Amino acid sequence: MTTLLKAQPLVDQKIADLTKRCQTLIQNGRTPFMKVVLVGNNPASLTYIKNKKRICEMVGAKFELDQLDDKITKDEFLKHIEKLNNDPAVTGIIIQLPVSPELKTLRITNLVNPEKDIDGFHSKNTQWLYEGSYQTNHLLPCTPKGIIGLLDFYQIPLKGKHAVVIGRSLIVGKPISMLLSNRDATVTLAHSKTENLVELTKSADIIISAVGRAELITVSHINPQRKTVIIDVGMNTLDGKLVGDVKFDEVSPLVAAISPVPGGVGPMTVISLVENLILATEKKS
Ligand code: GUN
Repeated sequence: MTTLLKAQPLVDQKIADLTKRCQTLIQNGRTPFMKVVLVGNNPASLTYIKNKKRICEMVGAKFELDQLDDKITKDEFLKHIEKLNNDPAVTGIIIQLPVSPELKTLRITNLVNPEKDIDGFHSKNTQWLYEGSYQTNHLLPCTPKGIIGLLDFYQIPLKGKHAVVIGRSLIVGKPISMLLSNRDATVTLAHSKTENLVELTKSADIIISAVGRAELITVSHINPQRKTVIIDVGMNTLDGKLVGDVKFDEVSPLVAAISPVPGGVGPMTVISLVENLILATEKKS
């Protein structure tokens, strides 16, 4: 029987814990306050932001969206972020990506004050990954943090296991590779130029696909003898439906466990973000 790595049971536990921690902070006069900065009105971004707001408010934290015109100049944008960095009421800031082409030349990931960087993108925060730490009191990038949380919740062993990560993005592929290595997995980081992907995935105990291509992973990538665990980070639309990177119907019977899309990594990313907000607020208190 294949185990479905659904986020909901873990999300329920985390919401209960974060609600308590949020209440304690509020009693001490420190309301967790998330600001999301969106440039323009990208529909996918607006959907992600709606989810962030919902979970924030569910645990009792404050949420505000600053939606900026996509014609905003670099100077005006930098001033806006500086104001939020210096506002003592704001305890967590997200610059929703992508930003407008004009702003892309800015080093966006390092603009937010590292103490308020709940995305975990600032080099002062990613430094912890390089240093080999896996401490829960650091602001780690949300999707990788959520993936590790999901693997731990379902008691999937990592030590000594071969993990094949596909995709080398700054948001998912690179940081999850380091977190897995810090947890004693043997990590192969594959990408679009990798020549022997099928060979690699067939020797994997854990496959993490973060490419953003529907039906990339098929039966031909799986060795059914290995009892592989698959984490599908993809969010793609196929025939009007939200699907991951894995051809789910044909692959899922051949593996030990697989995270569904939707309902797997997506909700873990949002809960990790709110967890980072509470953590950032606690550290300031
Ligand atoms: N756009 C897509 N994913 C993300 C994310 O994790 N953080 C931010 N800030 N923008 C995104």
